[in-house]
Amino acid sequence: MKLSYFTLSFFLTALASAKSGTSPDIFKKDKPPSKYDSKKGFFKQSDDSTDETTFDVITENFGLEDGVTWDQVIKYVNDKNKEHYDDGEAYKLFFLGRHGEGYHNIAPLEYSTTDWTCYWQIRDGNGNISWFDAELTDKGIGQAKNLSIAWQDQLAHNSAPLPQSYYVSPLRRTCQTFNYTWAPITNYSDVEKYAPTVKELARETYGIGTESERHTKSFIHSNWPQFVFEDVFTEADELWTKEQHESKQHRNYRANVLLNDIFSNDPNTVISVTTHHGFINSILKTANHRKFVVGTGQMIPVVIKASASKKFDTPTLTKPWVEYSSECATFNPSQ
Ligand SMILES: *[C@@H]1O[C@H](CO)[C@@H](O)[C@H](O)[C@H]1NC(C)=O
Ligand SMILES: *[C@@H]1O[C@H](CO)[C@@H](O)[C@H](O)[C@H]1NC(C)=O
Ligand SMILES: *[C@@H]1O[C@H](CO)[C@@H](O)[C@H](O)[C@H]1NC(C)=O
Ligand SMILES: *[C@@H]1O[C@H](CO)[C@@H](O)[C@H](O)[C@H]1NC(C)=O
Repeated sequence: MKLSYFTLSFFLTALASAKSGTSPDIFKKDKPPSKYDSKKGFFKQSDDSTDETTFDVITENFGLEDGVTWDQVIKYVNDKNKEHYDDGEAYKLFFLGRHGEGYHNIAPLEYSTTDWTCYWQIRDGNGNISWFDAELTDKGIGQAKNLSIAWQDQLAHNSAPLPQSYYVSPLRRTCQTFNYTWAPITNYSDVEKYAPTVKELARETYGIGTESERHTKSFIHSNWPQFVFEDVFTEADELWTKEQHESKQHRNYRANVLLNDIFSNDPNTVISVTTHHGFINSILKTANHRKFVVGTGQMIPVVIKASASKKFDTPTLTKPWVEYSSECATFNPSQ
């Protein structure tokens, strides 16, 4: 069905708002924003009283507060961008999607915590299921398809804005989720408009567990030939190691750098990022949003304000990374 599904007027709106996208020039000269905030009031997910454990973005109208329309959200973003351009502020609406259920989400349930942590997580699989760079389970594919249907409904009947830029984590489960969510909506062979950019920064906390190791760039390209790679994307996974697991502090830092990157280089205002549980937590934390655990196959919309451009100094990262315990090397699992 592709885009013929949608009315012409929707399409024109999307094109018009793409043009109005803007970031202050000062963000571009090696001086990204140094401060991020999120706007409360549009989405239930930003409300402290919302129970994240039972929240379903699909049945909750993507979280729009009662009485709030997408037009109001977009108008807010565009108006603020115009009003505060000279003050060096920029506003964008993000849709942060988490991949559908992967085999790495269900595999640990079959083992004790110690067996999983010490023995199984460092292996590619158990001979029955595989979790190295885990793929989506059938349920995970169903979740991504359901999110796609919800997007189609929001676009066609609720005037939701179609994202103007797409980013995806290089892990297999997020590439798959992107595909199942967006292929029925956009023709992402039209690379200029709809293909996602594969962003190393958007991957999950990495190290030790094989589920967080990625395939090569060539592998990703052979499976998703339309995807675009950021310039710095390397052929091999140079970040994952079997000895150490990234600290949360470092992951938060990566989220900060990703926001810097997007606010400095991407003039669009409606941004989709298909990523992971931990990395979404880090983006929300960077943007001063309340903690909100996004379930598999779910998504969270958030309006992020960037300000205070200055030279970016890499923070001092003091927290240790988790080491693979030497005791595990000789450990035998109980099952
Ligand atoms: C293999 O994995 C599937 C999916 O998790 C599970 O339903 C099934 O019980 C497993 N079979 C064996 C023999 O472990
Ligand atoms: C997809 O949505 C249908 C209809 O609401 C629901 O019955 C089904 O359980 C959903 N599938 C998954 C994997 O969430
Ligand atoms: C992409 O999604 C389509 C359904 O929209 C599916 O047929 C295809 O197998 C998927 N391809 C990959 C590589 O995920
Ligand atoms: C998708 O876009 C590509 C590139 O612009 C084009 O060649 C192709 O015909 C389009 N496919 C559909 C189904 O519109």
